[in-house]
Amino acid sequence: MCGIVGMISYRKVSSLLLEAIKKLEYRGYDSVGMACLHEGSLEIRKDIGKIADVDSKVDFTSMEGTSGLAHSRWSTHGAATKINAHPHSNMEKSISLVHNGIIENHHELREMLVKKGYQFSSQTDTEVIVHLIDSYYRGDLREAVSLALKKIDGSYSIGLLCSQHPDILIAARKDSPLIIGIGKKENFIASDVPAILSYTKKVIYLENEEIAVVKRDSAQVFDLDGKERKKEVHMIKWSTEKAEKRGYDHFMLKEIYEQPDVISETVEGRIGDESIDLSSEMKMSAADIKGIKRIIIVACGTSWHAGLIGEFMIEELAKIPVEVEYASEFRYRDPILERETLVVAISQSGETADTLAAIREAKKKKAKILSIVNVVGSSIARESDMVLYTKAGPEIGVASTKAFTSQLVVLYLMTVYIGAVNGSIVTDQVKNRVRDIRLIPMQIRSILEEADHVELHAKKFFTKENALYLGRGINYPIALEGALKLKEVSYIHAEGYPAAEMKHGPIALIDKNMPVVVVATQDNRTYKKVLSNIQEVKARGGVVIAIETKGDTETKKYVDHNIYVPKNSYILSPLLASIPLQLFAYYIALLRKHDPDMPKNLAKSVTVE
Ligand code: M6R
Repeated sequence: MCGIVGMISYRKVSSLLLEAIKKLEYRGYDSVGMACLHEGSLEIRKDIGKIADVDSKVDFTSMEGTSGLAHSRWSTHGAATKINAHPHSNMEKSISLVHNGIIENHHELREMLVKKGYQFSSQTDTEVIVHLIDSYYRGDLREAVSLALKKIDGSYSIGLLCSQHPDILIAARKDSPLIIGIGKKENFIASDVPAILSYTKKVIYLENEEIAVVKRDSAQVFDLDGKERKKEVHMIKWSTEKAEKRGYDHFMLKEIYEQPDVISETVEGRIGDESIDLSSEMKMSAADIKGIKRIIIVACGTSWHAGLIGEFMIEELAKIPVEVEYASEFRYRDPILERETLVVAISQSGETADTLAAIREAKKKKAKILSIVNVVGSSIARESDMVLYTKAGPEIGVASTKAFTSQLVVLYLMTVYIGAVNGSIVTDQVKNRVRDIRLIPMQIRSILEEADHVELHAKKFFTKENALYLGRGINYPIALEGALKLKEVSYIHAEGYPAAEMKHGPIALIDKNMPVVVVATQDNRTYKKVLSNIQEVKARGGVVIAIETKGDTETKKYVDHNIYVPKNSYILSPLLASIPLQLFAYYIALLRKHDPDMPKNLAKSVTVE
């Protein structure tokens, strides 16, 4: 939700912090603030707005000091105002604190602190933490932070500076990500790796209820009782340039264009000439795989759409019954899980609070958890029994694109692997499935080469205020995903529906002002039925934009606008159909003068329930 960066160095930190926090703007952009510790006092500058605008007002880089904190906020408690922007301070202004997460018992704590004489200046839950730490402070800063954190219910990652301790930066986390970056004569804290990649590639992942005491030349990690913990230092393999825009106008466009390479990387090392092998990652014996009786997929948003497509893949090829659940609903309905149930959690960030809570619920019931995650070392990855990484690289655009298609690829590889092991897919079919997935990068490239054509369609429709997306079978979730992409970045109201459901209600909305986007790729199941659904729209004066298979001469007889994708198997068709819909949403957002990388009200990583 919010972005946190901290730095303790031998050099002036303000401009370095500014660069770092810009890399986290995708996490929140209601307001931004910085605290720097210089000659025994803490200076704070903050305001509402995006980082570049606030910087031009307050001039962060003129702040002096060799240690500091920066924060970009996505508001939960308290409106997006200057006073609610982080960092927050104690009354003496000797402690500055930044926070990501939600303090659930902040009301009680606030009342207790007010009775003790503490005065609050903001409406945030965060301010409670800083006064609470102050109330416990007797000269030992780490101890005061530990005592305060023990009183807190909820989630947090925090960074803290204290003017009485100019040589330390404190960090702590629970259910909200935070890493420590290890540099040369300087160290860092951050919510996410891209923030500090230009300064270091060495990272320590903080676990829940750990506190780090970070100095210029060391970083020690403790539990809340003050016992030191040995931590592993991980080397990050992402290049700095991989986390930047690389010449594209927006991260969203760059990430759309990265999909052919991302998919090649995702399959790399997992497929042979004629086989798929996930044994080292899935760590399940053949007997365990054969014993899987049911799969439950839990996820949110776009990852949930990937899960719906996974359901089609798994039931059709691996012949295992699948249920797909919104992670946020799953934990509150006392799900029945047998020992033979495999729970698959899908998450780009690996930090989505609802998905994390769902896997914890499943774990309590002794189910095995396999996660499909993009961010290495993220909370969901660490709390799962097995992880299949999507290898999409950092996804910065808030609207998920390359993470989605790489999730579909991993679901496909997992399905074929399980199906081959449990005998539902015979060797010959595995060979064909491998051949099909190998074609995908090249086929996506050919769709991207025709992006101009999609842009022309965007120009025809960007002034509309509503849109309907239809699809059937395995492409029904693509209708949902296409509609979600459009609403996320263009703020046009869009709904996805199974095409046949249209006549049970949404058909009432059809007229010339309601563009209807139909996934009408050719297959031998629902294609003919989709053509009938298209005609139902046309009969009511609707305008149809169809995603069609290259070479299809039939569909164009009925529709107004055509967008073509190459042919692949039915099971892989969603991967191709999703690409023009991502481009369509992107171009419409630009034409409506919206920043597609930072849709209003949305955050990249939703670490609150
Ligand atoms: O990081 P996750 O995949 O767990 O995130 C789940 C959703 O929050 C996410 O997919 C969201 O719907 C995106 N904004 C979609 O573009």
